[in-house]
Amino acid sequence: MKRARTAVLVSGSGSNLQALLDAARDPGFPAEVVLVISNVAGVRALERARSAGVETRVVDHRRFDDRESFDTELAGLVRGRDCSIVCLAGFMRILTAGFVAAWPDRILNIHPSLLPLFPGLHTHQRALDAGMTIAGCTVHLVSADLDAGPIVAQAAVPVLPGDTAERLAARILVQEHRIYPLALALLAAGRVRVENGRVLLDAPLPDPNQAVAVPDRA
Ligand code: GAR
Repeated sequence: MKRARTAVLVSGSGSNLQALLDAARDPGFPAEVVLVISNVAGVRALERARSAGVETRVVDHRRFDDRESFDTELAGLVRGRDCSIVCLAGFMRILTAGFVAAWPDRILNIHPSLLPLFPGLHTHQRALDAGMTIAGCTVHLVSADLDAGPIVAQAAVPVLPGDTAERLAARILVQEHRIYPLALALLAAGRVRVENGRVLLDAPLPDPNQAVAVPDRA
């Protein structure tokens, strides 16, 4: 089996990166992480990549005059390692339309809300402020619009009495670590098709978990 060469873009702690690295340790996993790029030096995500023996690069966005030149540098690195998939894992920069168009329907992002609710920042506090009784996370294909694009997988958690943004975030993060490897596996295995802005899978998942909602064939 040829595994899909994958680059992961990070900015911080990298716990989602860790979930992907752990999944990819299984030789039967259809993707391998070959490059991790951070726009911030010294972050934990870089240590996690090094511990897993994965090449790391730091591209500090502040060195660039504009988004285009920053993204051109990123794209050059990703292309140079022959990656067919890019995963954003806590990457806190907005990619240009040019970068997104270079890997059409091949860039995944994880976002800590049930999109299309609460795109952008401070998702957990906004879910609490809105009086939501459930919250969750989404893995989606990246489009030129922020936190939009066809949904590959979602997971929901309850909002509990007395929740703070921190407690809710921790509960959601557990689910992020479950659905991100799942979504990457589906994409890498060629099981994701996009039609009319929606993801269709080639077949239902063999072991659908109640807490993980993955769109099925229409
Ligand atoms: C995760 O909760 C991820 O969903 C979120 O940042 C955190 C990164 O944690 N991403 C965004 O908010 C992107 N808009 P991690 O570095 O431990 O994976």
